[in-house]
Amino acid sequence: AEVQHHDFVVQETPVKRLCKSHKIITVNGQFPGPAIEVRDGDTLAVRVVNRARYNVTIHWHGIRQMRTAWADGPEFVTQCPIRPGESYTYRFTIQGQEGTLWWHAHSSWLRATVYGALIIRPKDGNSYPFAQPKREYPVLLGEWWNKNPIDVVRQATRTGGAPNVSDAFTVNGQPGDLYKCSSTSTTKLPVKPNETILLRFVNAALNNELFISIAGHTMTVVGADASYTKSFTTSVLMLGPGQTTDVLLTANQPPSRYYIAAHAYASAQGAPFDNTTTTAVLEYDCGCLPGSAKPSLPTLPAFNDTATATSFVTKFRSPAPVKLSSPVTEQLFLTVGLGLLPCPRGKTCGGPNGTRFSASMNNASFVLPSTYSILQAHQNSVSGVFTVDFPSNPPVTFDYTGANISRALWQPTRATKVHRLKYGAVVELVLQGTNIFTGENHPIHLHGYDFYVLAQGFGNFNPATDRAKFNLVDPPQRNTVGVPVKGWAVIRFVADNPGVWLMHCHLDVHITWGLAMAFLVENGVGELESLEPPPADLPAC
Ligand code: C2O
Repeated sequence: AEVQHHDFVVQETPVKRLCKSHKIITVNGQFPGPAIEVRDGDTLAVRVVNRARYNVTIHWHGIRQMRTAWADGPEFVTQCPIRPGESYTYRFTIQGQEGTLWWHAHSSWLRATVYGALIIRPKDGNSYPFAQPKREYPVLLGEWWNKNPIDVVRQATRTGGAPNVSDAFTVNGQPGDLYKCSSTSTTKLPVKPNETILLRFVNAALNNELFISIAGHTMTVVGADASYTKSFTTSVLMLGPGQTTDVLLTANQPPSRYYIAAHAYASAQGAPFDNTTTTAVLEYDCGCLPGSAKPSLPTLPAFNDTATATSFVTKFRSPAPVKLSSPVTEQLFLTVGLGLLPCPRGKTCGGPNGTRFSASMNNASFVLPSTYSILQAHQNSVSGVFTVDFPSNPPVTFDYTGANISRALWQPTRATKVHRLKYGAVVELVLQGTNIFTGENHPIHLHGYDFYVLAQGFGNFNPATDRAKFNLVDPPQRNTVGVPVKGWAVIRFVADNPGVWLMHCHLDVHITWGLAMAFLVENGVGELESLEPPPADLPAC
């Protein structure tokens, strides 16, 4: 195992997209940012220097961060932001993880342009559980705004309305040739005839789940969220923001150019917006293609094709039987969904019927602290930053997904509430989607842990009958699970990592509205069992 040092300079960089030049925030002037490639067991030391005009933090999405919560990155949760002109070195060790993860800014909507791949290969001498492909490509799907994304979210927060949708989807930072002024910059992935390649898909989009297909080819899924899975073949993938999927692809078709295409699945806006398809080109590298050979497009599922999305996400299994910890010592039922708040007197609001959008878990709408981080406040016994009274159950039980849901019940309380978990607890979470005025998927991401997905279903979770559907044999391990539209998901994990761990919807617009909470994992007497001491350069609050 080695120690890898990297320098990340966060800076403003001009790039040209959709016919215009824009200044965006990048890492080292690259968009997407630099890919980090490590082996399991390696230690990373990434020095982040902030030369931009915004506060910034970097999150290592999916990294377990065992005992190194200080390096997790969410602003005002585990650290105070790195201010302009300051720097901080994230130090952590990869422990027992292989596959594709990614890193992204965890401060306002900066992750729209500040993200990159984090590729973890097996330890020296170990190999993949499949034949080693000669070529591997990260395929990062993103969203592009012609406006500054920070201004987009600020404007939405001011009015309480929905933020503007993006102007394009992107593959490795490029919209692709179905968008204007984008044909010469379309991402190209060369492949030799009959070669098998590994594609590492990451959904880095801010606010959209995505369907992905490749014309003429099927894909063999071998992993997701840096956990291997039992392999299965598919012609379409569906990834929520935050999720990754590794697939093998064999170039067994007539030599040509084929589109890799992606568009929204039940976009957060409830309907697709125009010109939604981003493309890259899988190009047979045979020296035999006429320059004019036009790629063919795959057929993508319709934006509201829940059946296809469901059939894909429920195919995942762990490669071998899993030894689940039991008995469960913490059982939590969490509602996940949007809400509406009244407009403050004398103001005009942009939400439905003049209200403000909000979102919550168990009717608690998460407010990020603004002067201190929760972890530092806990460690330094600073009061007034958060409270430990996160409601462990929803305030009422009723038909969450039915037609006649009383809106009055869903005006969440805005506060910074955390839920204490005893170190070592075996935790089972039922995540129940609510359907106040729109039904949609919520990709829920838990920091600091991988968890097993025991079951997913539609309607209201019914303990009497739905427990029988739990996969207690080979449930897949993930760090982000889609709570299906008008449905539920059940996950299990052992709280063996001390610290403060955010859990939130990975649609950034929903985290902006408060669809988040945090777990405080301590030994029961307020101590963060075996957490390493804070690094000397941890940004001061
Ligand atoms: Cu990928 Cu809290 O985020």
